Amino acid sequence: MGTLEGRVAIVTGGGRGVGREHALLFAREGAKVVVNDLGAAPDGAGSDVSAAQAVADEIKALGGEAVANTDSVSDWAGAERLVQTALDTFGDLHILVNNAGILRDRVLVNMSEEEFDLVVDVHLKGSFAVTSHAARYWRTQAKAGVQVDRALINTSSGSGLHGNPGQVNYAAAKAGIAAMTIVAAKELERYHVRANCIAPVARTRLTEATPGLGEVMQSTRNDAFDVWDPANISPLVAMLATENCVFSGHVFRVMGGEVGLYKGWNVVEQFESDKRWTVEELAAATSRVPARPDAEIPGSHVKSLRNN
Ligand SMILES: NC(=O)c1ccc[n+]([C@@H]2O[C@H](COP(=O)([O-])OP(=O)(O)OC[C@H]3O[C@@H](n4cnc5c(N)ncnc54)[C@H](O)[C@@H]3O)[C@@H](O)[C@H]2O)c1
Repeated sequence: MGTLEGRVAIVTGGGRGVGREHALLFAREGAKVVVNDLGAAPDGAGSDVSAAQAVADEIKALGGEAVANTDSVSDWAGAERLVQTALDTFGDLHILVNNAGILRDRVLVNMSEEEFDLVVDVHLKGSFAVTSHAARYWRTQAKAGVQVDRALINTSSGSGLHGNPGQVNYAAAKAGIAAMTIVAAKELERYHVRANCIAPVARTRLTEATPGLGEVMQSTRNDAFDVWDPANISPLVAMLATENCVFSGHVFRVMGGEVGLYKGWNVVEQFESDKRWTVEELAAATSRVPARPDAEIPGSHVKSLRNN
């Protein structure tokens, strides 16, 4: 018996890349899957309904249950139709994975209003739109006395959590998604919903186009353990989706065999005064603060627990 037996899941952007791997693993673990994908180009342009359908067909060929949906996550009515597709087809919704995404990279000084708006629209508003419609259903169910575990899993990025130059639109949206997850975890707990967030790193068409990174990611394709394989991301997402998982409000980093736990924004040093500071006093008190934050490599200081 699979770890997601009897659960109904929506995976947005499930037609390609990381989302496709989530959809396939979910189905192998016994979930009924709504594969959503607009079939957009990497920059969000156009649509191709065959992307979602191909993954739904692949799942059915493996003996699983799946249905395709091609609505855009950032279309409010489309997001509602997506949630309704799960309810109409499979009669319930236990798991929502907000994964759909696009890129329009440009340095801040050259970025257009359209480039900023489009990326925020798909990632931040799109995650909110589908979550909002799912949450309304989950509230109705909870108020009717149904006590079933529901799991919301959002997709952030190291770009948003650490700040990647050239991606001010994407980083702002991804940081917003991490913050939104924490609010969702607090607000939706009363409806039996757990909310968590992942920041993945894997070889997909989005990262293959990144100068330098594409070649590095290709180099492990034939290794016994291909650390850049997007399928490496999905076990964490499936684990967070299982009904006996207790986690909520967490943000994880996942790449290859590494799963890291983030601990948000922390105040690491504090300067105190019994009265309001003067500008000069404050400048003197903070004079030993480094001019720039530590340029730490993410994960370089973490405690490791190895699975052998
Ligand atoms: N690949 C990485 O290393 C990496 C790193 C950090 C974050 N992410 C995030 O992971 C998620 C998946 O990215 P990926 O790398 O698999 O990229 P991908 O391009 O392979 O997959 C994204 C999918 O989302 C779909 N999509 C785009 N706009 C949509 C919309 N409005 N509605 C519905 N579907 C839409 C696309 O058609 C595509 O199939 C994204 O949120 C991305 O930002 C990926």
